Amino acid sequence: MEPRSMLDRYTRLAPDYDRMMSFWAPLDRWRRRAVAETNIGQGDTILDIGCGTGKNFPFIEERIGPGGRLIGLDYTPAMLEQAARRVEKERWENVELVEGRAEEANRIVKGPVDGAMSWCCLSIVPEWEQAIAATASLLRPGGRFTVYDMRTTKASGLLGWPLTRVIEWWVNHYGVGDVKVDYAVIRPWKATMAKHLTNVTYEEMAFGTLFKCSGERSAAEES
Ligand SMILES: C[S@@+](CC[C@H](N)C(=O)[O-])C[C@H]1O[C@@H](n2cnc3c(N)ncnc32)[C@H](O)[C@@H]1O
Repeated sequence: MEPRSMLDRYTRLAPDYDRMMSFWAPLDRWRRRAVAETNIGQGDTILDIGCGTGKNFPFIEERIGPGGRLIGLDYTPAMLEQAARRVEKERWENVELVEGRAEEANRIVKGPVDGAMSWCCLSIVPEWEQAIAATASLLRPGGRFTVYDMRTTKASGLLGWPLTRVIEWWVNHYGVGDVKVDYAVIRPWKATMAKHLTNVTYEEMAFGTLFKCSGERSAAEES
């Protein structure tokens, strides 16, 4: 998706994004899990790529505590404005909101970070491979990068048809991009992560409509 249309879509969605997402509250258990799988603890620094309005922040704050540092990076100023409101309301003093593109994360974020995560962002980033490379390079050795995102299911028949319609509906309402291209199987998530990280895992959940891919920076590497 062109950056301009992406920006227009999220600028329009931003004020109502959290309210719309409350309908999908069951997804929060996967947000919590994504944070847990990023393997961060008290006092750590974590980067949330495409953080949007900060829906992952409560789960991150729970783990890093006031002594940690949370960096939320997003390309849409209107989404970051909502994130800033959340931060103010919760009185978190350890959050830095950074406006910019995931694919340039290594130029705009001061690393290293102990962990990085991205929830439903990279599937709409045309330069997603660059975004993975940039994020991986910010990790300290041993740090983990966890990506959770949508995809079209491989299930067919009675299950496949309705699930594909749900994804199409979701993308038309909250996402951007082409369901057939951006959300389909064609992106080699695991192989791309493996170019930069070790111990890479890939798994599909929710009848194959959600995937997670994660890997860690080799402990032997110097940052
Ligand atoms: C579906 S929202 C997800 C927001 C948040 N991660 C969540 O789980 O609620 C996608 C977000 O990705 C951001 N985004 C899209 N392209 C981006 C890019 N190239 N770099 C950084 N953020 C981007 C959008 O501004 C939007 O906030």
